Amino acid sequence: MSTNITKHNFTVSRQRREQVNGQKGTVLWFTGLSGSGKSTIANALDDQLNKLGRKTYLLDGDNIRMGLNKDLSFSPEDRKENIRRISEVAKLFVDSGTIVLTAFISPYIADRQAARELLGDDFNEVFVDTDIKECIKRDPKGLYKKALAGEIKGFTGIDAPYEIPANAEITIKGLSISESVEYLLKYIIWLYDKR
Ligand code: ADX
Repeated sequence: MSTNITKHNFTVSRQRREQVNGQKGTVLWFTGLSGSGKSTIANALDDQLNKLGRKTYLLDGDNIRMGLNKDLSFSPEDRKENIRRISEVAKLFVDSGTIVLTAFISPYIADRQAARELLGDDFNEVFVDTDIKECIKRDPKGLYKKALAGEIKGFTGIDAPYEIPANAEITIKGLSISESVEYLLKYIIWLYDKR
C-alpha cells in the first residue's frame, strides 16, 4: 500500500489526446473459455481497425503472463490480480485515446465487475460464448488434454469455474471470425455515434 502520494493533474487531458488521435478511447473486454476464440477474434479485429487507420492495442492473456504478470499463477487470488492489473493498464491506454482490446479468460463475475467499475462507460464486455465441448475439440494448445488427464490442476472449465456473464454488451456465438469482426466493427461505430 502506497502512502503519502498526491495525484498530479496533467495539462494534456484525455479529450486533447483523443483530438490529436482523431478518435475516442474505449475498451472491448473479451471473456470466454480457453480456446473459445477470444484472442483470434481480438487479433483479427485489431488488424481491421489498424487497416482503417485506428490506434489500437491488444492485451492478451498468454502474452501479458509472459511479462507484466509473469509472477501470477492461476489461483483465484492471482486471477483476480491479473484482471486488476489489466484493468488498470487498459485505463491508461483509454486515457491515451487508444481503442483497447483485452483477451483474458477473466472467469469470475466479481473480477469483471471490478473492471467494469474502474473503466465505467469505457467497459464493453464481449462474451465469446463457445461451448466447452467445442473448446475441448479444438484444444489449440493441447491444454484440455492435459487438464483432463489431471496433468494441469485448476484448469478453467474442467476443474476451475467459468462464471457466465449475465450482462455482456455483446455475445458472440456461432459466428465465424470474419462475421465476428464485422459484428464488432458495427458495434464500435454504434458506440461512437452514441457518444
Ligand atoms: S485468467 O483466468 O487469469 O483470466 P488468462 O486469460 O490470463 O487467464 O490466461 C489464460 C491462458 O493461460 C489460457 O488460454 C491457457 O493458454 C493458459 N493456462 C495455463 N494454465 C491455465 C489454467 N489453469 N486455467 C486456464 N488457462 C490456463
